[in-house]
Amino acid sequence: MPAFVIGVGKTRFGPSGHDIPYLAQEAMAEALTDAGIGVADLGALIVANFLGGPNEHQLHLNSVVAGLMPGVRLPSWRVEAACASGAAAIHQAVALLGTYDPILVIGVERLSGLPGAVLTRNIGMAGDVVLDQAQGLNFPASYALVAQRHMQRYGTTTRDFELVSLKNHANAQLNPKAHFHLKRVTQADIDAGATVASPLRLFDCCPVSDGAAAAVISATASDGRSVPVLGSAIRSDAISLSQREDHTTFPAAREAAEDAYRKAGISSADVSFAEVHDCFTIAEIVAMEDLGLAEPGYATGMVRDGQTAIGGSVPINPSGGLKAGGHAIGATGVGQVYEAVTQLRGEAGQRQVAGAEIAVTHNVGGVGGTCAVHVLGRPS
Ligand code: COA
Repeated sequence: MPAFVIGVGKTRFGPSGHDIPYLAQEAMAEALTDAGIGVADLGALIVANFLGGPNEHQLHLNSVVAGLMPGVRLPSWRVEAACASGAAAIHQAVALLGTYDPILVIGVERLSGLPGAVLTRNIGMAGDVVLDQAQGLNFPASYALVAQRHMQRYGTTTRDFELVSLKNHANAQLNPKAHFHLKRVTQADIDAGATVASPLRLFDCCPVSDGAAAAVISATASDGRSVPVLGSAIRSDAISLSQREDHTTFPAAREAAEDAYRKAGISSADVSFAEVHDCFTIAEIVAMEDLGLAEPGYATGMVRDGQTAIGGSVPINPSGGLKAGGHAIGATGVGQVYEAVTQLRGEAGQRQVAGAEIAVTHNVGGVGGTCAVHVLGRPS
């Protein structure tokens, strides 16, 4: 069945004084206005969220969002796949279009305001609690292992990580909805960053962001701004790094990408730009290789040559990515689709990727335990 994104909305990602209903309402209102419909026109609602329970002591978020739609009783439920919750919800909406149409997907998360240690423990639930977290392998430490292995095998350097960070912070300055939109990051800032988990330092890490993003998915294009979803795929893997053979690649991402490309009838050579899950700078390098945008060990060459900048041959994370655009966990995968749609419509302003025809989004849960990949095309 064909699928189109007929409307998108997004709050700014970053520290916010607002609660989950407020954030969801803002993204929802923008998406419905963009689609030119009201809540009474919707067929179903899917809410993506990861930490509503532990952080906010609020679960049952589909009903929380339903409270924003007085008198409308939609089929609705919540999707949770850690940091991949948003794209998992988009995938589910695409798959359910024969049953419900249109489907509103809202990703929402509140992370700020908690002590760092509590937040690190809660985010750690995206990884294996018994085999990894209990042994001290929190999230930055897990990605530090990925970084160390990539450096050993391919000669990747910490300078490569810095180049990813500088590029994504420069892009975020062009994105008014980015966490670090107002922050100009220089080499001196990066040099001053404390070590978080060696070799990863402060500017190798995504921040913790609040935010929401929304997308309206339909089997019918509503107008000339509707963006076709050409391919949608999701794969899972063992949650613990101790159960993986190779820490330089995420097989779930590779297989989801192959499936999404097959459904879209494209190859990686056709990709104009990608929004990838750079929760840590090494993750952007691994993502490029898993998506087939570079051979294993060769993404760093593209980074060094500037090919991943907005004016380069394959721009990566024109939004600023998770690193500088922000990572509002349950909202991130929907936020990536927001960026892809905005770019493909030619509405991205200063950060516009010229001539963008095919966009790929890549949203990872845990340390490669889940990955959802979407291929979107230009409106016709
Ligand atoms: N990159 C750049 N600057 C950052 C930053 C980041 N990731 N995180 C925080 N900062 C900045 C803040 O803006 C603040 O700057 P200011 O003093 O100019 O206002 C300063 O650093 C201190 O902020 P604070 O929130 O106290 O930082 P922290 O030391 O408590 O947390 C990290 C830093 C890296 C530990 C935290 O951002 C983190 O845990 N990130 C990873 C989150 C994660 O694992 N998500 C899931 C991944 S899949």
